[in-house]
Amino acid sequence: MEYEVLKELAKEAGVIFREGFKKSKSITFKSDIDLVTQYDLQIELFLKERLSVAFPEYTLVGEETSENITYPDRAIYIDPIDGTTNFIHGIPFCAISIGIWEDARPVAGVVYNPILDELFYAEAGKGATLNDERIHVTDTDTLKNSLIATGFPYTKVDRGQDLEWVLQTMALILPETRDVRRLGSAAMDLCYVAKGTFDGYYEINLKPWDVSAGILVLLEAGGKVSRVDGQMYTLDENILVATNGIVHEVLVEMMAGEHRFD
Ligand code: IPD
Ligand code: CA
Ligand code: CA
Repeated sequence: MEYEVLKELAKEAGVIFREGFKKSKSITFKSDIDLVTQYDLQIELFLKERLSVAFPEYTLVGEETSENITYPDRAIYIDPIDGTTNFIHGIPFCAISIGIWEDARPVAGVVYNPILDELFYAEAGKGATLNDERIHVTDTDTLKNSLIATGFPYTKVDRGQDLEWVLQTMALILPETRDVRRLGSAAMDLCYVAKGTFDGYYEINLKPWDVSAGILVLLEAGGKVSRVDGQMYTLDENILVATNGIVHEVLVEMMAGEHRFD
């Protein structure tokens, strides 16, 4: 299977992305804080059209145009703009993410930030690259020396369990690490663990299109991904923990300490 075409498709879609980044946008509200622009839609429609030709046997699951999240045996998950809030506010940390999964395993993925011109790509068993150069996770072995990324779910506005989890986990992690960053794109966060900028990343309430490509980039760069209890992560899972592999256990254990707030 010729997966490398993903790189070309992401770059072509990147032309629409770059144009939109500079222009004023028409914004629609999925919720009070979950925004979508005409560029999210344009990019997704472009990618769906091209991917349906290149990969006719696969189900395309896109954030903006697919009615339901499904997990078929052959799936391509598309996030046309991961980091839409950054895209709208002119913060250049946002990306196109396309991940191909077969039988619940990632087989190929691309995360492309057209503004910084960073193209992350991985195929299962073949390593991960940034602009065609091999990348690898850090060898940091303590949380004290770790820079950890995270994100905040849109569900925070409900002031429910998700917000509680975010705040409790932050209270546990923040004092134990070098620092915590919230940059605003889950796909990029995973790739930045893969390239050794961050040592770890965790987030609640992610969707398959946020992480389908970034997970493979990270695994192929030598990293580790799991559920919050350390077990295997699946795309319908609520919380993802991702690290360089070395600090994984200690981070997962630290997060389990949230129960002391019960
Ligand atoms: C969001 C970004 C953000 C994360 C949110 C995601 P979107 O994706 O990845 O970093 O914190 O959970 O939903 O809405 O910009 O595609
Ligand atoms: Ca997203
Ligand atoms: Ca998106």
